Amino acid sequence: MKLTARSVSRAALVTALVAATGSAVVLTATTASAASTLGASAAQSGRYFGTAVAGGRLGDSTYVGILNREFNMVTAENEMKIDATEPQQGRFTYTNADRIVNHARGQGMRVRGHTLAWHSQQPAWMQSMSGSALRQAMLNHVTQVATYYRGKIYAWDVVNEAFADGSTGARRDSNLQRTGNDWIEAAFRAARAADPGAKLCYNDYNTDDWTHAKTQAVYRMVQDFKQRGVPIDCVGLQSHFNSQSPVPSNYQTTLQNFANLGVDVQITELDIEGSGTAQAQNYERVVKACLAVTRCTGITVWGIRDSDSWRSYGTPLLFDNNGNKKAAYTSVLNALNAAPTTSTTTTTTTTSSTTTTTSTTTTTTSTTTTTSTTQGPAGCSASVSALDQWSSGFVATIKVTAGSAAVNGWSASLALPPGVTIVNSWNSERSGSTGTVTFGNVAYNGGLPAGGSTEFGFQANGTAGALSLTCTSR
Ligand code: G3I
Repeated sequence: MKLTARSVSRAALVTALVAATGSAVVLTATTASAASTLGASAAQSGRYFGTAVAGGRLGDSTYVGILNREFNMVTAENEMKIDATEPQQGRFTYTNADRIVNHARGQGMRVRGHTLAWHSQQPAWMQSMSGSALRQAMLNHVTQVATYYRGKIYAWDVVNEAFADGSTGARRDSNLQRTGNDWIEAAFRAARAADPGAKLCYNDYNTDDWTHAKTQAVYRMVQDFKQRGVPIDCVGLQSHFNSQSPVPSNYQTTLQNFANLGVDVQITELDIEGSGTAQAQNYERVVKACLAVTRCTGITVWGIRDSDSWRSYGTPLLFDNNGNKKAAYTSVLNALNAAPTTSTTTTTTTTSSTTTTTSTTTTTTSTTTTTSTTQGPAGCSASVSALDQWSSGFVATIKVTAGSAAVNGWSASLALPPGVTIVNSWNSERSGSTGTVTFGNVAYNGGLPAGGSTEFGFQANGTAGALSLTCTSR
């Protein structure tokens, strides 16, 4: 069977079928019906609208009320940073981050992970490290945290703020940068191996103006990564604006140019200092710029009420200190509601004279990978559930599903094409790295109820081509 890798574009298709009575009414356009919350209105064009959440505020009922009502994506403001998740080397703490992740997922919101590798907010032990020990510690951090949250994160800010401000276009000097210029791509490869399902983003600020050296430098890095097959899926523009750093006139150009590299673009930490109409107009410009770029997939504001902001003095958010909607809120909602609808739902409306069908077609790319799924004698099947191929390698996720009876253990045999070598695998016991490779269950994923499933994965050099799988169970 052909394996669908990833949807890459959508096109709304509107058809009007004239019914037998013959009085034709032809509908030629769809417009978004007015949704009343930010998340719902963004969803009408297939986008999300998120906010940064501070775990300490989850006991504030006004805050939580707005959060649950308005947003469908959440970023932990501080709780997933390195100092929070690995305060002592090798000792990982997820309590505060989990509180946010669990709240979000419990409300049906998705989560952006922020951030795996950054020069700032490093714990003391990391600040004092250098060289290969630091490189190893950084990669271990990326692997451990991304593995812990595997399957729960929509997109990771894998690396944050790695470029210098000003006119040089250089990398920011930091202990991580001094481990070697390839530290960023090493972090991305580790993140991909740990959570193949998460989109991997590079995130930075002062990258909004297309003419700025820093923007150009990030662009060249992403272009280079795409050309060399370093796994990167998205660029995050933080977009912290004020009078010293206003919304640039070429903002949409910047979004579009990044998108043209073949990555998603996300506005990740939006706030705009100001008040009243001027602030509302600036927010509207940012939202409209995103809506005009197909691969601008969502917007996150960096907090809920002005009083929640890291720049509270600048009243930069969409709700005032009391949780009331500001003019900026209304301009954002109106802009989102004015976007053309690209919903994935299919609706059929029948009247006595016309039948009008509005549907969405999805264009997909297929890899050349084929999977042959074979039912094992004792009742399980295995198939490739995700595959990400870059120029020199790939990551595959294999799903093992029990048949009509529970199984107590399984093994999946995979025939690799010539030239493919497995370099890393997880959630299974593996024997071999070329030719026919066998993956057996580990202690925690051998038992599956009837119809139940589990996933394991591996990273390999080479081209996936045809992957043939056989599953046997106990
Ligand atoms: O929680 C402690 C509190 O116990 C203590 O009394 C107080 C004393 O200073 O500090 C509190 O921690 C502060 C924390 O925010 C929580 O409020 C830290 O000092 C403060 O440094 C930290 O600031 C965060 C900042 O990142 C650190 O770099 C901001 O909340 C957070 O909004 C900000 O977020 C960053 C993004 O991660 C990256 N892009 C820029 C953005 C804005 O700076």
